[in-house]
Amino acid sequence: MPGLRGPSDYSEEPPRHPSLKVNSKEPFNAEPHRAALLSYITPIDFFYKRNHGPIPVVDDIERYNVSIGGLVEKPLEISMFEIRRLPKYNVVATLQCAGNRRTEMSKARTVKGVGWDVSAIGNAIWGGAKLADVLELVGISKHSSFSALGGKHVEFVSIDKCKEENGGPYKASISLRQAANPEADVLLAYEMNGEILNRDHGYPLRVIVPGVIGARSVKWLDHINIIEEECQGFFMQKDYKMFPPSVNWDNINWMTRKAQMDFPVQCAICSLEDVDVVNQVKATIAGYAVSGGGRGIERVDISVDGGKTWLEAERYQRRNTPYQSTDDMNNDKWAWVLFKATVDTPENAVIIAKAVDAAANVQPEKVDAIWNLRGILNTSWHKVQVRRASPAMKNSNL
Ligand code: MTE
Repeated sequence: MPGLRGPSDYSEEPPRHPSLKVNSKEPFNAEPHRAALLSYITPIDFFYKRNHGPIPVVDDIERYNVSIGGLVEKPLEISMFEIRRLPKYNVVATLQCAGNRRTEMSKARTVKGVGWDVSAIGNAIWGGAKLADVLELVGISKHSSFSALGGKHVEFVSIDKCKEENGGPYKASISLRQAANPEADVLLAYEMNGEILNRDHGYPLRVIVPGVIGARSVKWLDHINIIEEECQGFFMQKDYKMFPPSVNWDNINWMTRKAQMDFPVQCAICSLEDVDVVNQVKATIAGYAVSGGGRGIERVDISVDGGKTWLEAERYQRRNTPYQSTDDMNNDKWAWVLFKATVDTPENAVIIAKAVDAAANVQPEKVDAIWNLRGILNTSWHKVQVRRASPAMKNSNL
């Protein structure tokens, strides 16, 4: 690709915020501390970074373009300048790695993959062109399910060099039906929180597929192919699939499961660590809740007695605006909801949060029921163990 290249080593990595928790250095995988997720829009520095190879480098943005080909009548090469001239949309969307909360799942039974606490997730304002508008330029009309030449999937190919692809680029696809639907808000994004995308997050251009696991939001876009079958790349065929607890590495058959797309209902407490000491009798429990596919969050329930009794948390997206779990245009339907509840904490308590989405899907109680060998989609009730500080401890803090 002119202007953009994928290095084969880690000597040109960008600078990162020192407070990130680094889960793997090369490739760089890091998440912020929980408290960083308590603002509705996640600051770029504290947005998790999930990579499978060295970060690509833009040598010459003037020469960068994206080629769109495959089963289309009018293949095209589109420059950054032309993409920026298309109508610009700002979409507030939560990006969540399918591996979020994997560390907790691995405590139930070993899983394979980078460990993550609850912060492989973030909510940003993504700015860019709608993929549906871009596809029109190659002759695919809005709301169509296939191209005139029989393409049914849209494949996004990057430029990074990934070990899993034997040194080839990261790639993924979504259905053409979703790609050509303007209401699905799939973006070719060049901005994050009002700033030009930075290298870690896909500069100069990335895909954002709202409501879908982060793995399909391909960074450092190089080309787009309109294809008949879904993308045959590693991350679509041999990863990011949800297997039942009975499947292990001896009996796995990747072909039996579909590539994961929407993520399920999820929530996590971010005001406390897994084992924490609270100083007051009254504690504020706060965190995020989100569901895939544009399904809103109907409710977040909190328990301080291990799940015997529950109270409903307050939810909000914009402060001082009542949250509405609907999908109208004024609602940030692809974005997470923050929740907050003030509770009386017993001396020793297990505090639990669980969310319910607009389709009444509820998070499962136990991780064992959803355990899978790759450790994806841990959406079990989020629990933290708290102890109230004794008067002696409180004084020692003064
Ligand atoms: N795109 C490329 N080219 N290479 C990658 O390694 N990782 C994917 C996705 N897009 C990846 C990619 C995964 S698994 C996730 S969760 C998101 O990017 C993470 O995006 P972020 O690093 O901007 O948070």
